Amino acid sequence: MKTHTILMPLDMHLHLRDAVMLETVAPLTAYSYSGAIIMPNLVPPVTTLEDVKAYKQRVMAAVPNDNFEPYMTIFYKNYDKAFLESIASEIVAIKLYPAGITTNSEGGVSSFDIEEMRPTLEAMSELEIPLCVHGETDGFVMDREAEFMPVYELLAKNFPKLKIIMEHITTKAAVDMLDKYENLYATITVHHLLLTLDDVIGGMMMPHHFCKPIAKRPEDLDALLTVALSAHPKVMFGSDSAPHPQHAKESCGCAAGVFTAPISLQLLCEIFEQYDKLDNLQAFVSDNAQNIYGICPEFKEVTLEKRTFVVPEKYGSVVPMYAGEAIAWAIESID
Ligand code: DOR
Ligand code: ZN
Repeated sequence: MKTHTILMPLDMHLHLRDAVMLETVAPLTAYSYSGAIIMPNLVPPVTTLEDVKAYKQRVMAAVPNDNFEPYMTIFYKNYDKAFLESIASEIVAIKLYPAGITTNSEGGVSSFDIEEMRPTLEAMSELEIPLCVHGETDGFVMDREAEFMPVYELLAKNFPKLKIIMEHITTKAAVDMLDKYENLYATITVHHLLLTLDDVIGGMMMPHHFCKPIAKRPEDLDALLTVALSAHPKVMFGSDSAPHPQHAKESCGCAAGVFTAPISLQLLCEIFEQYDKLDNLQAFVSDNAQNIYGICPEFKEVTLEKRTFVVPEKYGSVVPMYAGEAIAWAIESID
């Protein structure tokens, strides 16, 4: 049986929610990953030192094993330097959402006025707090990410010491930005390495493939595969696993988000093996993130085996990607 071992896998973009949902989904990531960056888009969002400490406690309480580190974030506002100094040791990044662009982002940034943002972004540069960005405009849905590229350029040029992470990139336009500015990095999800728009709405409409940013064209998928499979040192795996209850997905007005937490590592193995690039998976799913964020994760050794695994229909109230379907790799052991 073919096996493959990954050390300290990291998920650099994860939604865990709160309460019962948190208790359902947190153990699934904590089982196979050493750590994950926890998104702050709760209702209301995580914006204070008390919020972040309390949320971290709730995450840890929901996780049965102690070899998992939740790397916390707060929701971007134009914070002052004193506040940032007080919170710097509790967070690994600040997540910026354009207002209203996706789930629970209503309190996000409504105008990218660089001078208004300057004190916050300069303080973040000095304190070495990375900025994670949901990079979409409110334009036509297929163009939103590409239209956001000038904002990335503005941020990268004005704040050359700020690490800026283009989250869950879906386009060739974003891939092409990576090497243009030293301080730009990116995360890529597993579903965006598998899907195009055709897999969302090309046949029957597939609510469990619907997310923001939406999956794009075949040439975009190719560009994402090229940088992920080559483990470009500025890209990291970030699942953007985003659980919603079944009724919110299979409904008139489907919530955006693909739930991949329990199968993401297995799917990554399948993709990297298919392209004969398994040797690069370690960098994509751990080493690059350790270098970019300067983190030293909890020890975990995950061995995957090439054997059929039928994805469960549901985890609590949440339907995962590929529910009921067979995938090619399974988790064999974890030390
Ligand atoms: O599809 C998405 N779901 N995209 C996001 O940016 C947010 C996420 C969520 O929180 O559900
Ligand atoms: Zn997200």
